[in-house]
Amino acid sequence: MEDIIIGVAALAAVLLFFLLQKPKTKRYKLPPGPKTLPVIGNLHQLQNLNPQRFFAGWAKKYGPIFSYKIGSKTMVVISSAELAKELLKTQDVNFADRPQHRGQEYMSYGRRDMAFHHYTPYYREIRKMGMNHLFSPTRVASFKHVREEEARTMLAKIEKAAKKSEAVDISELMLTFTNSVVCRQAFGKTYNEDGEEMKRFIKILYGTQSVFGKVFFSDFFPFTRYVFDDLTGLTAYMKECFERQDTYLQEVVDETLDPKRAKPETESMIDLLMDIYREQPFASEFTLENVKAVVMNIVVAGTDTAAAAVVWGMTYLMKYPKVMKKAQDEVRDYMKEKGSTFVTEDDVKNLPYFKALIKETLRVEPVIPLGVPRCCIQDTKIAGYDIPKGTTVNVNAWAVSRDEKEWGPNPDEFRPERFFEKEVDYKGTDYEFIPFGSGRRMCPGMRLGTAMLEVPYANLLYKFDFKLPNGMKPEDINMDVMTGLAMHKSDHLKLVPVKVNY
Ligand code: HEM
Repeated sequence: MEDIIIGVAALAAVLLFFLLQKPKTKRYKLPPGPKTLPVIGNLHQLQNLNPQRFFAGWAKKYGPIFSYKIGSKTMVVISSAELAKELLKTQDVNFADRPQHRGQEYMSYGRRDMAFHHYTPYYREIRKMGMNHLFSPTRVASFKHVREEEARTMLAKIEKAAKKSEAVDISELMLTFTNSVVCRQAFGKTYNEDGEEMKRFIKILYGTQSVFGKVFFSDFFPFTRYVFDDLTGLTAYMKECFERQDTYLQEVVDETLDPKRAKPETESMIDLLMDIYREQPFASEFTLENVKAVVMNIVVAGTDTAAAAVVWGMTYLMKYPKVMKKAQDEVRDYMKEKGSTFVTEDDVKNLPYFKALIKETLRVEPVIPLGVPRCCIQDTKIAGYDIPKGTTVNVNAWAVSRDEKEWGPNPDEFRPERFFEKEVDYKGTDYEFIPFGSGRRMCPGMRLGTAMLEVPYANLLYKFDFKLPNGMKPEDINMDVMTGLAMHKSDHLKLVPVKVNY
């Protein structure tokens, strides 16, 4: 019955679409791309699994800039370092906006956050505050003990499993690690990781993240209004996730407003945002909704990105044992000389091969492979093609970091040494390597993100050798990527740890 209703509604929508078509006043020379079908565009061709590889395939066919359509929206994808530079440097201001996404708008309290806010004077104020305070080197350093303590907890669990020769789920352990770190950094809260509060937090987080990754019919077929989102249950799901998110964040805000609350040992991020709420330093009002929206960004962006990066890194190391050995030798020799048993953030600075390994991990699997989409503010041209105002543009960072012009003939090979041959960093000025994006909307959490992944990653290499479970071979590891904003390995990575005795 539901199918019939959707079918009839779809037919009505198609007719309505043609009736509402206005004569075209301007003809654009759009970038080349696949043939489109009336009404739906290329919707039928898109795939959920491995979208970055799928788009890289289209780039091979249509070139480093191509366009496709979903409903009435033109989408453009850029896949070369040269054009990434054109977009993110030369034309940065014109692409500093974010496109329409009903779910992101709803979950961010009507774009009162940083990540999805339009490029407005308010955005520039909040961004500046973020760079100077929220994500400053001093603040990142102030949470160092949090990251190190939580890493020790994770390692203790692996050690227990190693004693029993049991496999551990690295994906699960890394997510628990980042969730715990983020709760302490953002709210000053330490939850028992198997307790009810942590379970509640994780459920809320997954809900919010999943709404961000959903395709809303209303964004691409605006003439249908919310009919299809309502019929498919997406509207109800989004509202339910929002209610849970808001109830939780409101409780956290209320706690900070409680005059009897004990001062936290380290000022958490929400404390800083509450100071801004009290002081109102911006030209426009910074409400409690703004506080909740920005905190939501920190929580969502901070948890699965770092976890996904370590999981990808360990996955590639299992496939490239020589790289694993070299990285292990470096950290083990260094620790032996130093005479300590836990790799700290300060130690990492003295491990050049490990630093190159982090870069290589983010090159082969940039965890936000299609970047966070940008939106064109005014009609412009790229590579001689028209890009109309309102076009959504993705930079395929995964394809860019395989651009053979920049990376040579074997870009799929996992080889940290390439970063000794080529001086390239992820700080947003080398356009062949942009895991954190670049330009005005580049990731403000880069320093925090790398700090969150370094200590667990280095200690995994220092303390354990790893084997694949159940006679699995490296070539059996599934490398599929799940869609979302941050893209995880679709199967969890399970490994049998072997404790190394020193
Ligand atoms: C390995 C870890 C991380 C990676 C790979 C990553 C990557 C990215 C990328 C590609 C973007 C889009 C940049 C653009 O449009 O050019 C972004 C934006 C953003 N990231 Fe990260 N990120 C990471 C960790 C974090 C952390 C830990 C935080 C905060 C706690 C964070 C907060 C944000 C925010 C707020 C934005 C939106 C910026 C804006 O629109 O102005 N990220 N990130």
